[in-house]
Amino acid sequence: MTRLSGKVAIVTGSGGGIGQAIARRFAAEGAHVWVTDINGETAEETVRGIKAKGGAATAMLVDVSKGQDLTALVRSVEAAHGRADVLVNNAGILVRGEVRQLSDADWTKLREVNLDAILRLSRDALPLLRKSQSPAIINISSIMAHRGLRPLAAYTATKGAITALTKGLAVEYAPFNIRVNSIAPGYVETGITDRLLKLPPVKQALIDKTPMGRLGRPEDLVGAAVFFASDDSLYCTGSELAVDGGMGAGL
Ligand SMILES: NC(=O)c1ccc[n+]([C@@H]2O[C@H](COP(=O)([O-])OP(=O)(O)OC[C@H]3O[C@@H](n4cnc5c(N)ncnc54)[C@H](O)[C@@H]3O)[C@@H](O)[C@H]2O)c1
Repeated sequence: MTRLSGKVAIVTGSGGGIGQAIARRFAAEGAHVWVTDINGETAEETVRGIKAKGGAATAMLVDVSKGQDLTALVRSVEAAHGRADVLVNNAGILVRGEVRQLSDADWTKLREVNLDAILRLSRDALPLLRKSQSPAIINISSIMAHRGLRPLAAYTATKGAITALTKGLAVEYAPFNIRVNSIAPGYVETGITDRLLKLPPVKQALIDKTPMGRLGRPEDLVGAAVFFASDDSLYCTGSELAVDGGMGAGL
């Protein structure tokens, strides 16, 4: 497995869930992965696991909602490699609740982590990405970006904005040869969905809505990420790939 051989990849929120699965696979494909997370311990653990399998990775505590953390990340990657080939904007949080009960603080937090961070890091990492031969940005959106889902209007609004930002950035960064694509997962069993999926009727209802008859696992997302990170997608930009067991097609 050498599809990402020699590439330098940053994956935000990769101490767990989908980001961790992507980081592990990128390393297995030959990339040096910057495993960054607000939880420094899980980032370190992930890196230990990658190194134990012969991969290359660096752990860093990065809260994507903090501008100074993003600046420190860009500086560290620059000092170590002088460039970045792949940026996966994966870190995300879920705030459940009806909009009419949502506090300004909750909305601000959701927006800062899920959306503002993608804009800021895609901007701040631009000089590093421009030094790559075939740079790629991958944003993790959601199939729910295109649908109303109660009580998740605020969360889905951030995901809709990620999809729109991906297309806008694809157009803006195309002259720099930087591809910008997004992945839209369906329901995946991770920390974000843990509480929801512990309710057996909810879990079964979601499985019933999934034509392939099961929920996603973090590993189900990695093939799409490798495709957009690798030179197999050199003519793709502004695309969104749903990885959802057919849920979006059937809804
Ligand atoms: N699980 C799903 O069903 C699903 C569906 C669609 C989209 N997504 C998206 O996938 C992405 C990954 O989520 P997941 O399902 O793996 O959830 P997860 O909770 O398992 O993983 C999210 C990771 O991001 C980290 N994180 C949270 N806030 C952060 C911050 N401020 N700075 C840096 N890291 C932070 C967490 O510590 C965690 O390691 C998110 O953007 C989520 O919205 C998930």
